[in-house]
Amino acid sequence: MNVLGISGSPRKEGNTAILVKEVLKHLRGKRNFISLAGLNINPCDSCDRCWKENVECVIDDDIRWIIKEMEKADAIILGSPCYWGMVSAQLKMLLDRSVSIYEKNTLKNKIGAVVVTHDVHGQAGWMAAVLIANFYNANGILYAGRVIGEGGAEIGHVRKDKRAMRGAKEVAERMMELYEIMKGKQKKRDYKCLLRVCFSQGLQNRYFKPIFEAPRATNKQANPQNTRITITSPP
Ligand SMILES: Cc1cc2nc3c(=O)[nH]c(=O)nc-3n(C[C@H](O)[C@H](O)[C@H](O)COP(=O)(O)O)c2cc1C
Repeated sequence: MNVLGISGSPRKEGNTAILVKEVLKHLRGKRNFISLAGLNINPCDSCDRCWKENVECVIDDDIRWIIKEMEKADAIILGSPCYWGMVSAQLKMLLDRSVSIYEKNTLKNKIGAVVVTHDVHGQAGWMAAVLIANFYNANGILYAGRVIGEGGAEIGHVRKDKRAMRGAKEVAERMMELYEIMKGKQKKRDYKCLLRVCFSQGLQNRYFKPIFEAPRATNKQANPQNTRITITSPP
């Protein structure tokens, strides 16, 4: 699975980044991480040219390559600190600007997980989590769950939140499970298609044996020792 984790915190190594990376750690496959901290990101100005003229967003900033990375991924983890009960301005700008690919449906059927950190003993993170889940819903992204952790001003505090650490692993497992289901469905479709071709060409004896495996659930755990995550920065 090709997974992209994004932290919308202005603190590059902050609690949100830590929790997003914790989910990535429990996943298998290609794992990329982007921090929106310090990047050149601007708000959508609703010029509407993207969908009216079917062109790339006309604002030339870092959002362009980030959206391309999102389109390349099989799964996305969007993370944000809770700011006044909502997502950070940085993440909100990314969500708004992705309206430029909304009509193209290029995020459809990807798998999406939500990460939010709020204050120590905070309660408000769920509202930010709902906003990201709504974004997934609107774009046809398959929701794999959310993890909300206690962050606060101290960077690294979220590591003490054992419930969030457990939650990160659970969300990762669900992402893998959804991915296996999707892959299985794809194989089944390919298999049916191959059978049709074989029969139509009289090759049934040669190719009748299933070449593609039937979908199966996986109980395999990700290897937590394998923590290599690629940090993706501006091209
Ligand atoms: C501008 C601002 C607004 C915040 N608003 C809230 C809030 O409404 N509720 C809350 O629980 N925490 C709030 N916090 C705390 C952050 O959500 C928390 O410290 C978070 O873990 C920071 O994530 P980071 O380390 O990735 O930057 C706010 C912090 C800032 C800077």
